[in-house]
Amino acid sequence: MTEPVLDVHLTPEDAAHALRADVRAGLTADPKWVSPKWFYDAAGSALFEDITRLPEYYPTRAEREVLAGRAGEIAATTGAHSLVELGSGSSEKTRLLLSALRGHGTLREFVPQDVSVSALTEAAHAIMADYPGLRVHGVVGDFTQHLSLLPGESPRLVAFLGGTIGNLIPEEREKFLRTVRDVLEPGEWLLLGTDLVKDERTLVRAYDDAQGVTAQFNRNVLNVLNREVGADFDVEAFEHVALWNAEQEWIEMRLRARRAVRVTLADLGLTVEFREGEELRTEVSAKFREEGVRRELEEGGFSLHRWWTDAAGRFAVSLAQAV
Ligand code: SAH
Ligand code: AVI
Repeated sequence: MTEPVLDVHLTPEDAAHALRADVRAGLTADPKWVSPKWFYDAAGSALFEDITRLPEYYPTRAEREVLAGRAGEIAATTGAHSLVELGSGSSEKTRLLLSALRGHGTLREFVPQDVSVSALTEAAHAIMADYPGLRVHGVVGDFTQHLSLLPGESPRLVAFLGGTIGNLIPEEREKFLRTVRDVLEPGEWLLLGTDLVKDERTLVRAYDDAQGVTAQFNRNVLNVLNREVGADFDVEAFEHVALWNAEQEWIEMRLRARRAVRVTLADLGLTVEFREGEELRTEVSAKFREEGVRRELEEGGFSLHRWWTDAAGRFAVSLAQAV
């Protein structure tokens, strides 16, 4: 089999540099934070795939239900020649779109983009094997930085699935949507997955599962810091916390120090102290309402063409067009 084309817009050196800058900023801030993009080393990407199969983690199944029901309509409406997927991960659900666009006879190229080299390479190989003749052009990159470099033949459909837009804070979301709009021509398409506001219990359980897989995923970011910046976090000294912030309408994941902890980050020449009970924010996962998604899309230069949810109304997929 021929190898998929892989463009690297984020080299391991760039990623190491960005991680160091982020960690220095986040661990010297009050309250402390680390960006969720660093969850996804090979172990973190595999743990995320485990999360998608948990009984409590409904978003993946709910989004798949919508895509299964609407992929034909999406293909007919967009007639896309290229499907560009941001934060593509395993691209599992994306197969529904690839098959529908192929069936419609327009698809020529698939462009998955992700910061995780392991997830991207694995997915690109699997898709090439299962879609003979399809050009697969993977891009290692950061969707908050490298969008203008994305390849793809017009008309393009950019898919941003899984609710990953909710992992950006509102200012980042605004900038992200404007940047996507800027790289598209008027009339091209964005398919956006958003998890929806619902009862607190369902939300918190999805981020604090009984088997502790999400806790492992959360704590894995400390393994990444230990390896990548020579830190000496005792991973077990931190407890997984998932809570619903009703004001911001987002889930927050944090790591709470079980005792006072001193961490040395050798490569940064930095020592950081955690008080007992002090928390490190590792992720927000915003939940949305239809009017908010419509407004954010419009402010970003898109018009909302279709809004679909799963039958239980847990998760939405929006098809929007660049104005
Ligand atoms: N789209 C898939 C995967 C979601 S997990 C799904 O719906 O199941 C989030 C994915 O986004 C991971 O693969 C992670 O590596 C990627 N990611 C996170 N931050 C990113 C960033 N800033 N730029 C590019 N990819 C990113
Ligand atoms: C990738 N992203 C949409 C997931 C989410 O639900 O916010 C990441 C995740 N974090 C904990 N569980 C899953």
